[in-house]
Order: sequence, then structure tokens, then C-alpha cells
Amino acid sequence: MWIHRHHQLPYLLFFVFAVLFSSSLGDVGTASLYNPPYLPTACYNNDVSQFPANNLFASAGEGIWDNGASCGRQYLVRCLSATVPGTCVQGKIIQVKIVDRAASSVSRPSRAGTTMVLSATAFGEIANVSANVINIEFQQV
Ligand SMILES: *[C@@H]1O[C@H](CO)[C@@H](O)[C@H](O)[C@H]1NC(C)=O
Repeated sequence: MWIHRHHQLPYLLFFVFAVLFSSSLGDVGTASLYNPPYLPTACYNNDVSQFPANNLFASAGEGIWDNGASCGRQYLVRCLSATVPGTCVQGKIIQVKIVDRAASSVSRPSRAGTTMVLSATAFGEIANVSANVINIEFQQV
């Protein structure tokens, strides 16, 4: 039986980490990034005063665009994983404001069809910007 007890530790640790890192934000999706020029065209008719001062904003993918109702919504986002190990900044959560529609943004996403397209600043807060796409967990605030 001592062997059995000995081998419980890895499982216990796994459980602890699973709980810690799953304290979840809700939904799972993907994020790409876009670079300047930034224009909040679909949401704010190019009114650049709508950009948050910290540059943490995003364009909505079709899945969350919600026929324009997503404009101005705030999302908590964290990087879950990517193709290249070490891409995510572990434990970092950002809050972004939706300012545009990814499908029609002036500056094109690094990857088409993602859940949201983060500003380069926002993407760089949670992941290595060398990645074109990351898996994310997100939740509307
Ligand atoms: C970001 O990713 C690139 C390409 O994989 C790598 O060369 C670089 O060292 C990474 N940067 C950091 C800060 O991890």
C-alpha cells in the first residue's frame, strides 16, 4: 500500500494545478493580432477617441460580433496555449474593449477567423507576438 500512497502525490499536484488554472474565465476560443493603422470603423465610424488609453482593445470575430452589439463590450482574456511552447505569458489576464469588426477591419488580422483580434499591445501582454494565433480563455465583463 505504501507504493500506492507514494504515487498519489503527482495526482494530487495535478489536481491542485488543474483547479488553480481552471478558475476559469468562461469561454475558450482563439485570438490573432493586428497592427496599425488602427481605425474603429465598424463600431465608431473611425472616431479614434474611442480607443482606450492603454491600447488594450480588440476587433470582434464573427462569433462574438453579435450584429454590432459587441461594440464597447469589455472582455477578460488570457492565453491558454499555442503551437510553440512558451508562447503564453502564464497567469496574465488582460481586459480589452471591442472597437471594430475583424471581418472588415482596415488593418488585417494575422489569422482569419479567430474569436477576436487583439491590438499588438494587448496580444503582447499575454503572449509572444511572434505567434500569429493563440488559444484563449475569455469572459465578458
Ligand atoms: C518569441 O518567439 C520567437 C519565435 O519562436 C523566439 O525566437 C523568441 O525568443 C520568443 N521571445 C520570447 C520573449 O520568448
